[in-house]
Amino acid sequence: MQIVVGVTGGIAAYKAAEIVRRLIKAGHEVQVVMTEGAKAFVMPMTFQALSGRPVRDALLDPQAEQGMGHIELARWADLILIAPASANCLARLAAGMADDLLTTVVLASRAPLYIAPAMNQVMWESPLTARNVRQLSEVRGNVTVLGPDQGEQACGDVGPGRLLEPDALVEQLLALNSPGAAARSADMDMRGLTVVITSGPTRERLDPVRYLSNDSSGKMGFALAAAAQTRGAKVILVAGPVHLPTPAGVSRMDIESAREMQEAVMSVISAADIFIGAAAVADFRPVLSQSQKIKKSGDQTLELKLEQNPDILAGVAALDNAPFTVGFAAETQNLETYARDKLTRKRLRMIIGNNVSRADIGFNSEYNEVLVITPSSTTPIDRQLKSELAGVLMDQIMREFNALSRSSG
Ligand code: PMT
Repeated sequence: MQIVVGVTGGIAAYKAAEIVRRLIKAGHEVQVVMTEGAKAFVMPMTFQALSGRPVRDALLDPQAEQGMGHIELARWADLILIAPASANCLARLAAGMADDLLTTVVLASRAPLYIAPAMNQVMWESPLTARNVRQLSEVRGNVTVLGPDQGEQACGDVGPGRLLEPDALVEQLLALNSPGAAARSADMDMRGLTVVITSGPTRERLDPVRYLSNDSSGKMGFALAAAAQTRGAKVILVAGPVHLPTPAGVSRMDIESAREMQEAVMSVISAADIFIGAAAVADFRPVLSQSQKIKKSGDQTLELKLEQNPDILAGVAALDNAPFTVGFAAETQNLETYARDKLTRKRLRMIIGNNVSRADIGFNSEYNEVLVITPSSTTPIDRQLKSELAGVLMDQIMREFNALSRSSG
């Protein structure tokens, strides 16, 4: 493929060198376009040496225009990757600006655009940045957001906003552009179906500033939502508090607690053909949620009394005219036995078991490895990126869904 890699200003710009190296190694042609900000962090010579092409950085550069002008460059690109994409770059792209080479190339190209944001966590969580990403996806179309990752940031903060690691980023980018992915998306086998998916954690409030929750990032459920949407389904994503952009074309309902999630799911479930519970719903909530911050006094101890939350998944599966209901089972041992027990108890069509005691899969990882369990089968699926796994799981779900439709109709 012919790939334009846009590099914008930020400390993560140095990681773009490794991204370019990996793309070249995988046999792709890369033309790097740097913004002025990026050049404050990395020398253009680094990218020239890695890509074998002089870096392009100026919109009005007579020499460069003699060779491949900015419009030719926009046409040359099979895809455009911006890594790192700064908050400023996202704002300018969302506004449709074309006042430097990178924004102009994006505006002048219909090629798929991949953006890998990297910025301080408060900037990433700003509603303005969220709006810019949403607007860019909705208005331009053909935009995929890769990351960002969570963790320690160069500024000392901890949170979402780190550039994805180059190996994961390149792997995701290439997987999304593999012939398999194209074939899957060409195969619009979910057209006409409505899919409701829950994703992320829930928060159960103790007081206005404290809550019980878990480490779910929402990545698994969001990847499933994107996969179903790509195959033509109408997708409603009921999301707990996560820091992920909404996949293009997906309707999103944001909730905080398990009871809010249940209410949101039940308000749309009558339209659903398929329900997938990928959320890590808190099983318990505090009996009392204080309206003011709980104060400590002396060496007092505090006992928390918890009561059970409703089981959303079991509730959906028990409905008259229940949709094809798929659960997840997060286990730390006896994966198949415990997951199969949940399949039976909750009366599900399928359950996807994952081992959440492993750091390299499950909660908050880019990867997962699962057992797909139905009443009559168990299928292990190897560790892979959640973005890829989502397509494989959707294949399994559709196979069972179609078999059931055939047998009952
Ligand atoms: O979000 P990520 O960081 O990408 O991580 C993905 C994941 C590990 C969260 C995901 O793959 C996963 O396993 N999700 C289910 C987590 C969970 O709560 O599992 P469970 O075994 O406790 O629950 C079983 C099923 O019942 C789940 O489908 C769950 O959504 C559902 N449930 C549980 C309790 C409850 N009160 N209501 C429910 O609907």
